[in-house]
Amino acid sequence: MSAELICFEQRCRARYPITGVIYNCPRCGGLLEATYDFQIEPARAKALWRERRTSNAPLEQSGVWRYRELIPFLDDYSGVVTLREGNTPLLDAPAAARYAALDRLTFKHQGFNPTGSFKDNGMTCGVAQALRLGMRRVACVSTGNTSASMAAYASAAGLQPIIFIPHGNISYGKLAQALEYGARTLQVEANFDQILALVRALAERLGIYLLNSINPFRIEGQKTIIIEMLDQRDWSPPDWIVLPGGNLGNTSAFGKALRELRELGFIAKMPRLAVVQAEGAAPFHDFMKQPGENAFRAVEHPETLATAIKIGDPVSWPKAWQEVAASGGMVAKVSEQEIADAKAVIGRCGIGCEPASAATLAGLRQLVAAGTIERGADVVAVLTGNVLKDPDYIYRYHTGELTSPTGAPIQSTFGNRPEVVPNDADRIAALLAER
Ligand code: F0G
Repeated sequence: MSAELICFEQRCRARYPITGVIYNCPRCGGLLEATYDFQIEPARAKALWRERRTSNAPLEQSGVWRYRELIPFLDDYSGVVTLREGNTPLLDAPAAARYAALDRLTFKHQGFNPTGSFKDNGMTCGVAQALRLGMRRVACVSTGNTSASMAAYASAAGLQPIIFIPHGNISYGKLAQALEYGARTLQVEANFDQILALVRALAERLGIYLLNSINPFRIEGQKTIIIEMLDQRDWSPPDWIVLPGGNLGNTSAFGKALRELRELGFIAKMPRLAVVQAEGAAPFHDFMKQPGENAFRAVEHPETLATAIKIGDPVSWPKAWQEVAASGGMVAKVSEQEIADAKAVIGRCGIGCEPASAATLAGLRQLVAAGTIERGADVVAVLTGNVLKDPDYIYRYHTGELTSPTGAPIQSTFGNRPEVVPNDADRIAALLAER
């Protein structure tokens, strides 16, 4: 099995050793991806992966490493650190389907991961590569989930995690995780895009391994979200896969997974990707309306309460462009109100998610209303983060205190206020008898 890094730019396609500490093509500056000379037979691999599910071996219990034949960048798995990431459920959500005017809807809930987001799928791979390269310190800039995940995996692996976050702009749940998992935490007075530029320069200068989603090994791990989802569906592809878009690493990973699965004969049909962005941070949406070589325009001051996707200059847009186009997909944008209401609907399904994840249902509702997605379509929406990531947002929504970044109030359409009651059985009984 040979594994290499290859420049994603079609006119370059330069190849580099898989052990190079590089994040962009040294020749043209393009994004890199892992490429393999796969030796894998679909029927055998599918049977093997099923069998591994009953194993007690840590590597087989991981919903990432179980599928290692499709992410074969390591020569040796003895150093892999797994927190049993992946293994996230497919959940039917009839009430959410009704809200989107779909006949049925399934959520693939990545919030069931060890640190509560899909980042764990990628991070176990990124940290494995850091160990293999002999790096001692790892860094990332993050809107919160990447940092929580990197902190956990790096600490578990005995590496030092150093995280950079936009000061005052990530949820407390995520910040708390980073502190608890032992990350050196630097809150920078700048936004995500500005800090990413800073950290890229610093990583090189200080010899720290960068674990943002430009890191191609994280993308490899995130491919398994799609692989596992298809395995759970007995390899029957849905018509659409819907996901939120921020830095666009996940869009790139999903597209790569589908491309490879199709080329290798695991699936006969390509699902279409629908990426959903928040209105105030939607550069990819705007670009995809009229795409072209020099047409990408960053949003200088991105704004959204869905802080996970508050990104104006997503690094992976060239990959995401190709992948969305290759899948015959599309990009939508949704308002703060639409995200907030969709999130409450997902909550009422007994499922719950963080704000960025709810952009999926909000986007679906729009796309079905516009006739882009048919009512009878088979749709999987990926919920990227756990409901407890941002409790402050939830409390404000349900009590009518949530305001959008522009200052406009957000209606608590599905509000559910807590009630203060006296310590008095009769009065409480009377209150509960009313409804
Ligand atoms: N949903 C959640 C919950 C996220 O945390 C992110 C990204 C996204 C969606 C968007 O994914 O960047 O691959 O397009 N969070 C990153 C972070 C940026 O730092 O945690 P993307």
